[in-house]
Amino acid sequence: MPSAARFAGQSQYSLTSRERQAKSQSIVNLVGTRWRPARDVDPGLWEKRRKEEVPSIHRAVLTGCGAMAKGWLRAIGERPDLAGQVQVVGLVDIDGAKAKALADEFALSDARIGSDLGAMLADVKPDVVFDVVVPPARSGVVAAALEAGAHVLSEKPMAASMDEARRMIELAKRHGRTHAVIQNRRFVSGMRRIRRFLDGAPLGAITAVHCDFFLAPHFGGFREEMDHVLLLDMAIHTFDAMRFVVGRMPQAVYCVETNPTGSWYADGAAANAIFEFGEGVVGTYRGSWCADGAPTSWESAWRIVGAKGTLLWDGHDGFEARVTSGSDGFFRETASLVVPEVEDATETQGHASVIRDFLRAIDGGTAPETVATDNIASLAMVFGAIESAGTGRRVAIEI
Ligand SMILES: NC(=O)c1ccc[n+]([C@@H]2O[C@H](COP(=O)([O-])OP(=O)(O)OC[C@H]3O[C@@H](n4cnc5c(N)ncnc54)[C@H](O)[C@@H]3O)[C@@H](O)[C@H]2O)c1
Repeated sequence: MPSAARFAGQSQYSLTSRERQAKSQSIVNLVGTRWRPARDVDPGLWEKRRKEEVPSIHRAVLTGCGAMAKGWLRAIGERPDLAGQVQVVGLVDIDGAKAKALADEFALSDARIGSDLGAMLADVKPDVVFDVVVPPARSGVVAAALEAGAHVLSEKPMAASMDEARRMIELAKRHGRTHAVIQNRRFVSGMRRIRRFLDGAPLGAITAVHCDFFLAPHFGGFREEMDHVLLLDMAIHTFDAMRFVVGRMPQAVYCVETNPTGSWYADGAAANAIFEFGEGVVGTYRGSWCADGAPTSWESAWRIVGAKGTLLWDGHDGFEARVTSGSDGFFRETASLVVPEVEDATETQGHASVIRDFLRAIDGGTAPETVATDNIASLAMVFGAIESAGTGRRVAIEI
């Protein structure tokens, strides 16, 4: 049985979790059957709890019970801190049998099962909704959840269009709720090591970042049939990571998208994009999902160039950083620098780290790192690239 059985509210609670639950439940979110934010129930106690950093127990409905939902439940169930904070009170899928199968697989016997999100929200009144549906269904799911007063954590991509994404931001603002997006590939050890290294500005000002992504996976299913498959389904991870590395907003893009000869995808299995980030910072992406023979990492292979030197990352554990050390000669001498280890391992656990960051932000009244108001910029890189590929022109990126 997966360790998800330790989810909050289930029988295998550890003593520590029980203590934490008791403490946390001293300010309950349920008043009768009507959910109210803890802050409104008892502002004094809420503030005290916030200062003590005692995590709340979050009552979650997960909607979209397909392949990725298992990854979410595993991420939560395998981490005691998350399992102690999340009580899965409902599972929803338009195919109700999938919701039931997921509940069985993860021993979530207390969770309600349903095929209608609206009915589930009205019934169990969760304070968070985990949205793991396919992208075309996302906008309806997010709207229903926000309107029902829940905070929402969505799978990537944030939306199926920029207009949908803007509407989601407007709705979250109107309802005073947090909407954030899973960008698990910025929560990996390599990305955090790069960020920590660059924080000390050892390369001087960053001038360019180049990412290569070459793999040849045979997924079958929807990916082999969808349009713009690489840009929409995968490149958003690298684009988002580029923003994380350069720390600037994207301003424009030129992109050539192809479906190379021999591709087993219907559309757009390869893309080559040049991004402008302002102040002369350029990002390039060369990617293909049908390039067999010399695979890169799923994180891409990176070259980050600064005024004083270069950092290479192979996307796995290999780093090489060199900066100018000499002042004469045709090629100046360079010296090697060490890329430090991660500071906080809890930031390197992919989905688990994003979920933790989301819950912590809700508890603390802050914005999560992947809050929708910021994540829309990564989505804009994708839709800008698609527009450029379609028009053959450089496209200004509008948020
Ligand atoms: N972050 C990552 O690394 C990563 C990896 C894989 C997939 N994903 C993302 O996760 C999401 C889901 O992908 P998947 O591979 O699990 O797809 P999937 O097809 O296996 O599962 C999606 C599920 O959503 C259900 N669904 C569709 N419309 C619904 C609706 N309106 N209400 C409730 N349920 C609905 C479907 O019946 C299906 O069971 C996608 O956005 C995908 O891009 C992210």
